[in-house]
Amino acid sequence: MRKTHTNADMSHENRLSYKISIFFKSLRDNGIFPTIRKMGQRLYYKIKGVDFSTQNIYDLTRKGEYKEHGTALVSTSIDFLSQLLDDLERAIEKPLNKGLFVDFGSGKGAAIIHAKKLGFKRAIGVEFAKELHESAQKNIKALGVDGVESIYEDATAYTLPKDTSLIYFFNPFDEVVMQKVFDNIMKQKDNFENDVYVIYGNASCTVWRDNIELLDKITYISGATAEFYKL
Ligand SMILES: C[S@@+](CC[C@H](N)C(=O)[O-])C[C@H]1O[C@@H](n2cnc3c(N)ncnc32)[C@H](O)[C@@H]1O
Repeated sequence: MRKTHTNADMSHENRLSYKISIFFKSLRDNGIFPTIRKMGQRLYYKIKGVDFSTQNIYDLTRKGEYKEHGTALVSTSIDFLSQLLDDLERAIEKPLNKGLFVDFGSGKGAAIIHAKKLGFKRAIGVEFAKELHESAQKNIKALGVDGVESIYEDATAYTLPKDTSLIYFFNPFDEVVMQKVFDNIMKQKDNFENDVYVIYGNASCTVWRDNIELLDKITYISGATAEFYKL
């Protein structure tokens, strides 16, 4: 899995040649049945009018001061999120409290929609690109999921609800924004009602690693990485 960098051009991910290469990679890494299941899932989304496709953000309407610090939209798949949650549970050696899932930089809403499907009571996504936030709203409506909300806001301006139980980052922005988000979260640390865990996928900065004890770090067969923390 390629890491995205701020303002990177990720449009190649929507080309047919890229999709064919991903198909063969999935056959090799996961086998025939999981690959067919994934294709079925894609077809279901297409029929429902759901769009989780990769999209560059530099021509989108972005809110706040940190327009040049964000990465392109690459959506989390349900299989990857499911794997991350299993691995977090393994790291903490107990079942996760699946209360409120919050995704900073939530794009078209893939991770928040999947989180609800994977057992979270509620899921909130914070997205600074207006067009992506609107796509997320459409996707939530098209799939008819309740308890899932996309908020049009810059990540640095968002205050987490007290009942947050899991914070998710899928390499959304650089260290400038991450440091501000981290500082805001730390100011709230004593207000949370539950233990709060953090999953940082494809980490591109060391803000979390430098300040909080790392519970675990995993590199997956796809090349994606994940870091796990407890606040
Ligand atoms: C790699 S995508 C992850 C999408 C989503 N989390 C998922 O897993 O499906 C990064 C997203 O972060 C958003 N983003 C970047 N900077 C942001 C900021 N300062 N505030 C809110 N969202 C931001 C981008 O617009 C993009 O949609």
